[in-house]
Amino acid sequence: MIDDDFAIAFGHEPDGVWVAPGRVNLIGEHTDYNDGFVLPLALDRRTTVAAAVAGRTTVRSTREPEPVSFTAITVAPGQVEGWAAYVAGVVWAFREAGLPVVDLEILVEGDVPVGAGLSSSASLECAVAVAIADLTRTTLGPTEIARLARRAENDYVGAPTGGMDQMAAMHGAAGRLVFLDTRTDAVELIPFDLAAHGLELLVIDTRAPHQLVDGQYGERRADCARAAELLGVPALRDATPESVETLTDERLRRRARHVVTENARVLEVVELLRGGRDPREIGPLLCASHASMRDDFAITVPHVDVAQETAVAAGAHGARMTGGGFGGCVIALVDAGRGAEVTAAVEQAYADRAFEPPVTFPAVPSSGAHRL
Ligand code: GLA
Repeated sequence: MIDDDFAIAFGHEPDGVWVAPGRVNLIGEHTDYNDGFVLPLALDRRTTVAAAVAGRTTVRSTREPEPVSFTAITVAPGQVEGWAAYVAGVVWAFREAGLPVVDLEILVEGDVPVGAGLSSSASLECAVAVAIADLTRTTLGPTEIARLARRAENDYVGAPTGGMDQMAAMHGAAGRLVFLDTRTDAVELIPFDLAAHGLELLVIDTRAPHQLVDGQYGERRADCARAAELLGVPALRDATPESVETLTDERLRRRARHVVTENARVLEVVELLRGGRDPREIGPLLCASHASMRDDFAITVPHVDVAQETAVAAGAHGARMTGGGFGGCVIALVDAGRGAEVTAAVEQAYADRAFEPPVTFPAVPSSGAHRL
């Protein structure tokens, strides 16, 4: 229990325990910073923080050997680096927003795989943010907390991400997808009862190296901004399939085409699921999303493509890479009970190529951040 671990680490009981989940995105990739649509779900894998008010902030993690210390009223960008920057960044974002902050002793535990594209960082930010809001008695809605967490990620840690991951961590709900319009931050929870349809959503962690704070993500963002500028629209959300084909620069044309077609696919998936249709019908849209990320957005890598193709060949109704790209995870929609077969096929395909074995587990749509 984290309470016991906290007591061992700090010598007294915590004031409370808070959790926030990782996520997978069902569809809508690299659309969130283009004012577009995304459809993630919160996982049953989460980050847990136990915290108590203290004279100085000390953060410990069961995954890290060394504690990190700072002071809430002075912590500034650049001062805390590495894993604890996600914690310091949230404290800083609260302060920057004019909200009260407090020094805390914090113990972090979690089972969201790190570096797998499942938003372990957003789950840590959101768990810390709900803890601070509670302990300072600040009433904030889930979207406000998600925005503070994103501010930490963008302006403290320095990763130029969109807002999908933090919104998924805050708004997730059991048996639901989080349909988010990133232009307005409007959220609609969409029923996604896989068990009722005899289905499961398999997460295949390819374990290919994945790093967000590298240049590729930023380059894609810059390409999208440039394409929108050339098309004379506020964001690629406003571009049409016809207009993007007028872009003369082939790279920009492909990037823009991905975003425009991906937004349309999200809306189509939402329509199908809202109408209570068999989720198997979304399979071809998942595959089309993958092809678009591979061919137009150029963010897949061999580990990812092999897992996607193999899953479909082994009977998945649809499969696609999920998350920022260049590694990370593939999701596959499979009939309940067929997960082991699909997993075995991907393992074999990896062994044939001398890739490290993948790790697979089912994605169970779960609740967003809350106090335990
Ligand atoms: C990462 C970012 C998100 C989003 C996805 C791609 O997960 O954190 O904001 O841009 O990549 O869809």
